[in-house]
Amino acid sequence: MQPKVYVTRRIPESGINLLQQSCDVEIWDSDDVVPRDVFLEAVADKDGVLCLLTDKVDAETLDVAKNAKIFANMAVGFDNIDVDECTKRGVMASNTPGVLTDTTADFAFTLLMAAARRIREGHEFVHAGKWETWGPLLLMGQDIHHATLGLIGLGRIGTEMARRGQGFSMRVIYNDVVRREDLEQELGLEYADFDTVLKESDFVSLHVPYMPATHHLISTEQLALMKESAILINTARGAIVDPQALYTALKSGEIWAAGLDVTEPEPIPMDDPLLTLDNCLIAPHIASASFNTRNDMSELAANNILAALSGKRPPTILNPEVLEDS
Ligand code: GLV
Repeated sequence: MQPKVYVTRRIPESGINLLQQSCDVEIWDSDDVVPRDVFLEAVADKDGVLCLLTDKVDAETLDVAKNAKIFANMAVGFDNIDVDECTKRGVMASNTPGVLTDTTADFAFTLLMAAARRIREGHEFVHAGKWETWGPLLLMGQDIHHATLGLIGLGRIGTEMARRGQGFSMRVIYNDVVRREDLEQELGLEYADFDTVLKESDFVSLHVPYMPATHHLISTEQLALMKESAILINTARGAIVDPQALYTALKSGEIWAAGLDVTEPEPIPMDDPLLTLDNCLIAPHIASASFNTRNDMSELAANNILAALSGKRPPTILNPEVLEDS
């Protein structure tokens, strides 16, 4: 009998095709999140699960998923998975790092440029029939070239963001729990403490994972350190920024603009005050959404499952200690 795999959403076909070569695949064939009760029932008899950041893999899930060898997240972030709980039970967990790095950095830089140069406001201005003449004062924004780009987090995506900044002749400074002198040398980056990055940057871009230590890492006090002309970019996780503090800072002009691909909560409720602001550009969590990258993510998640189910090491396993113990 073939191993049973559950896929929690419609995903690019390439990953499904890989799985179907040797597994019995059941798919939640929808673009909506699988309801929790359906998810729990579906995982009960599966050997592997391809899940998304909208699926919670916690003790309750693991209690039900008695046969599961692996939960393979189709995302690099894995704050939806309780990895410690998986490890305790000998269940593998994996994510999709690497394949989405450039695409996500491209999008973070796109948000940065769009917020700085007021693309959304320009588009709306034209569509509202307000464009009557060339205006010397019309929709002035912030310069990108030669500005200071401050990176909070210098992992894979942060590093690629640094390279993009350098393409625009920016000064790039960063803060991370791990100092990367190799990258400082290679890319000409400057390390600075957290507050200095906030104070000196024209653009602050967040590239840290979400965890208890990064919950509302950017709140009232941190926003107050930023320049009045500064722009905050968040393509990491919504809850790294305190949304109420961000609203107040944007509304009062304490910072100049924000570009967000992630919000707290997601989706952002239609009555969220951030939606009333012209200086807050919001995208629906699509930073990795290029055709190629989403194909690659679905294939990597599938390959993690196929490896786990054939006794091999999943290429991007998060808890390899599970393998060492077996
Ligand atoms: C998307 O947010 C991801 O973590 O891949």
